[in-house]
Amino acid sequence: MKVGGSLKILTLLAVVVPQLSLVTGNSTVVVTQENVNGFIDSNELVLLSFYAEWCRFSKILEPIFEKAAAQIHQKFPEPGRVILGKVNCDREEILADQFGIIKYPTIKIVRNGLVGNQEYRGQRSLEAFVQFVEKELSDPIKEFHTIDELKSADVGHGMVIGYFISKDHVEYDTYRRVASLMRNDCRFLVGFGDLTKDLRLPGKNTLIFRGDPSIPNPKNAYSEYQGNMTSFTNLTAWVDKKCVPLVREITFDNAEELSEEGLPFVLLFYNKNDLDPIQQFKKAIHSQLENETRVNFLTAEGKLFKHPLYHMGKSLDDLPVIAIDSFIHMYLFPRFEDIHQPGVLKKFIDDLFNGSLHFNFHLALEDDEKSESTIDPVQLPPVVHESKFKELMPSKHRYTLINRTRDEL
Ligand SMILES: *[C@@H]1O[C@H](CO)[C@@H](O)[C@H](O)[C@H]1NC(C)=O
Ligand SMILES: *[C@@H]1O[C@H](CO)[C@@H](O)[C@H](O)[C@H]1NC(C)=O
Ligand SMILES: *[C@@H]1O[C@H](CO)[C@@H](O)[C@H](O)[C@H]1NC(C)=O
Ligand SMILES: *[C@@H]1O[C@H](CO)[C@@H](O)[C@H](O)[C@H]1NC(C)=O
Ligand SMILES: *[C@@H]1O[C@H](CO)[C@@H](O)[C@H](O)[C@H]1NC(C)=O
Ligand SMILES: *[C@@H]1O[C@H](CO)[C@@H](O)[C@H](O)[C@H]1NC(C)=O
Repeated sequence: MKVGGSLKILTLLAVVVPQLSLVTGNSTVVVTQENVNGFIDSNELVLLSFYAEWCRFSKILEPIFEKAAAQIHQKFPEPGRVILGKVNCDREEILADQFGIIKYPTIKIVRNGLVGNQEYRGQRSLEAFVQFVEKELSDPIKEFHTIDELKSADVGHGMVIGYFISKDHVEYDTYRRVASLMRNDCRFLVGFGDLTKDLRLPGKNTLIFRGDPSIPNPKNAYSEYQGNMTSFTNLTAWVDKKCVPLVREITFDNAEELSEEGLPFVLLFYNKNDLDPIQQFKKAIHSQLENETRVNFLTAEGKLFKHPLYHMGKSLDDLPVIAIDSFIHMYLFPRFEDIHQPGVLKKFIDDLFNGSLHFNFHLALEDDEKSESTIDPVQLPPVVHESKFKELMPSKHRYTLINRTRDEL
């Protein structure tokens, strides 16, 4: 998950702590604008199903969600741990809006009172819901008891390592809540007491990020958190920056989630027999565009994503190929080699946002329609195509999609 600007704490109305006794008979709670804050603030984990009565996918989900809620309630009866709630979007339009709902049913995940753009995308089965909640409620931080144990911790992942005085410390509580939110993006470890006392300053707790050793990027290999240890937001921002790589791989499994981060894709299509362009792409982005937050930088295996390539008139022989997909259009980056020239890729992205890529698109279209061409076609190569990646967005075979306008890019 890229937290970016999307993480927000909903502050809707005065907090009304709802009475569970109101909803006996059904295991899910009926969530409304009036009671939402109460549920969110008083539970470690809240799953909210946003549905509509007339939506058939919502109808299919309802009894399963209900059963899951009953089983989960039995497993975790302690108040304050977990609640499954449902929101009738026809009655709660404002609430649905606040949660950015664009399809029914959408199951939003709220951890420790924090509303992000995360949603449940797993199987909609009783077992899967129960497993998901069990995993979510398990401790996100793994304790190590010897230094050897720490040294032999998995490679192949970024990790945050805490050297703490004791578990019973307000700063550890912050660490635990952040780890819970970011549990899918990093490994979190901790060692307490004497074991780690040589690794931290006397009387102080320390948090270290250790980068994935398999990714050569010395700048991010190792760093210590210098910020406020009790500030949830500051620590989350740090973990997000460290643990969510600037350049990620897109697959069919994560495409929907990536698309819902809402940022245009800057894609490198590569050939899996030649991985060198990936390193070059990463190097260029890290050195020139490390502060770019308006887009998602992704690498895509060419064979897996050959349809978008063909759609742009490219084949596997043309790889590596770079393109922007704005979910409306695709724009082809003219020459891969140019990424090494500082400013060229940045200008391509800037051109997307100031509309000049799009402007060229319409110019090219107009030009196509006119018989007597006023524009030299060489000046405007056909680099623009309809988006293909929008097909990877939430599917109408699983959801009822509802209208939301998007800025046209
Ligand atoms: C339980 O849920 C069903 C379907 O959502 C509803 O018709 C019924 O009134 C609810 N019962 C109670 C006691 O809330
Ligand atoms: C915490 O975050 C706020 C807002 O982003 C920032 O202004 C502040 O400097 C940060 N404080 C620390 C100690 O990191
Ligand atoms: C650290 O963050 C906490 C929680 O946001 C805040 O109450 C506290 O004042 C901050 N401390 C410093 C030194 O900024
Ligand atoms: C990104 O921002 C940091 C901090 O503001 C700055 O030091 C760095 O030079 C910037 N990187 C690039 C490539 O502009
Ligand atoms: C967009 O920015 C580029 C420079 O990055 C400039 O050449 C172009 O004229 C701008 N287009 C518009 C429509 O502002
Ligand atoms: C979606 O938007 C289109 C065009 O704006 C409109 O014609 C259509 O009725 C809308 N559909 C729904 C379900 O609101």
